[in-house]
Amino acid sequence: MIRIAVIADPHVHDCAWIPEGSGLPGAIRSFAETAASTRVFNESIPAFRAALDHVAAAGVKTVLLVGDLTDDGQRPNIRAALALVADYRERHGIRVLMTPGNHDFYALAGRPQDKSFLMADGMPRLLRSADCPEAATLGTAEALAMLSGLGFTPEAGDLHWESPFGTDPAWDARSYEAVSPDGGTRCRMIDSSYLVEPVEGLWVLAVDANVCVPRDGARDLADPGEFHDPTDGGWRAVLAHRAHLFAWMADVAARAKAKGKRLVAFSHYPALDPLGGVSSEEVALFGATGLARRAPTPAVADAFAATGVSLHFSGHLHVNDTARHETGAGRFVNIAVPSPVGYGPGLKIVDLYADRSEIRTLSLRQVPGHDAAFAAYRTEAAREGAEEPAASSAPDHGTFLSRHLVNLVHGRYLAREWPRDMVEFVRTATVADLLETLGLAAAGAPAFGLNELVEDWYRLRKAGELSHADIAPDRIAFYRDLCARAPQIEGDGLPARFSTLLRMMRAYLDRPPNRDFSLSLPDLVVRAL
Ligand SMILES: [Fe+2]
Ligand SMILES: [Fe+2]
Repeated sequence: MIRIAVIADPHVHDCAWIPEGSGLPGAIRSFAETAASTRVFNESIPAFRAALDHVAAAGVKTVLLVGDLTDDGQRPNIRAALALVADYRERHGIRVLMTPGNHDFYALAGRPQDKSFLMADGMPRLLRSADCPEAATLGTAEALAMLSGLGFTPEAGDLHWESPFGTDPAWDARSYEAVSPDGGTRCRMIDSSYLVEPVEGLWVLAVDANVCVPRDGARDLADPGEFHDPTDGGWRAVLAHRAHLFAWMADVAARAKAKGKRLVAFSHYPALDPLGGVSSEEVALFGATGLARRAPTPAVADAFAATGVSLHFSGHLHVNDTARHETGAGRFVNIAVPSPVGYGPGLKIVDLYADRSEIRTLSLRQVPGHDAAFAAYRTEAAREGAEEPAASSAPDHGTFLSRHLVNLVHGRYLAREWPRDMVEFVRTATVADLLETLGLAAAGAPAFGLNELVEDWYRLRKAGELSHADIAPDRIAFYRDLCARAPQIEGDGLPARFSTLLRMMRAYLDRPPNRDFSLSLPDLVVRAL
């Protein structure tokens, strides 16, 4: 048996960084900015450290890091992340193999970043990378030069290493011609994909699905505005712009099979819908929201399945999900790995046997030092004469992120993505009112507001079974019963839209077990342990 771990999106941000010439005491992000973001910032180093502690405790020596290693690819944050990784390598012999995400670097010359940090008195102060170059996102080549030790180039002792372009690890041997959609603008871009055999019998396939494409008519390629952002493209962009990767993956899968190697693939982006398979309902309900917009298409899934790569780990969306796809061309499983700094925090431990893979999801609820920035949040609130945020007294990291999610649901998702009439209903109605709206008997319904049901809807959607730690068992039982009883209502009125919402909730509740399960290859039977 070979045991590995998978960590996604640690988004390391170094609060101890003192931006040169800024007068800032450190780099603590404000709670106001934290509350508006889908991830938290100041807690990232304690959470990544806790994830690596779990890895060490599980006796794992190989970690797949599914991209977004740092906050936004700033040099000080890359340095801090590498120091942490080096510490675990030295003390525990843990080797981290990485694939890039959209927050690790940008296009050829990077891009500017303007972020607020707290002064000692709780006053936020804007730091512009125009004034402090270290605060900018690095370009691809510059960032990869720093990150090259994370699997991107071979190490002495590797039993095999290759890239899609051969066995020369030099960056200038690993580029392809990126072409704008109209074919008029061309430039060389690095594809950092690689295959490594770090221990006998294990083939790790790191696919660089982070595709930056020049815009039509682009002239100054040092200008980040001249590129399409890879954030929403993911595997759709791979299909359109890095098709060479599919042929290489198919070749790798065939060789792995012939040589009896256990092949594990990972890339930053999901190759299957990681929202319980209901992202199309989400589009129907809310339009193209952040997550639904990023769901891969069936064409992507078919192309991926045809490569013969059957186990793939993804990050990016900070969700916990297991999705399967099967066509005549092939079949595979996409495991979406939660982030240590998004709701609900976790990582995966994978035991690879000759005939099956056993996958456990470990919760990062307990994180030593989770409250390191809480005093700063309280100072910030006091300075503004505002109430102390509930999150800043959370007893653990899991509760902090659960309370943070409540802020996000009301301040971002309901405010920006939901239709106004649904929001008004959610803000004033009870669960009994919802039952009546759906034509169900409301007698005996539990007494709580519809807003709480919506908060739990988001918990289940993002974290699957990890969310059950934050939702009382009788609530889960009630949701299951409600989703089973809810009628399918046609039309576009409130009853129809809330019936769709409950259909989606049912899919989130019925996801394949993603806390512990065993995956038998090639049958891809997922069962609870
Ligand atoms: Fe991320
Ligand atoms: Fe990402």
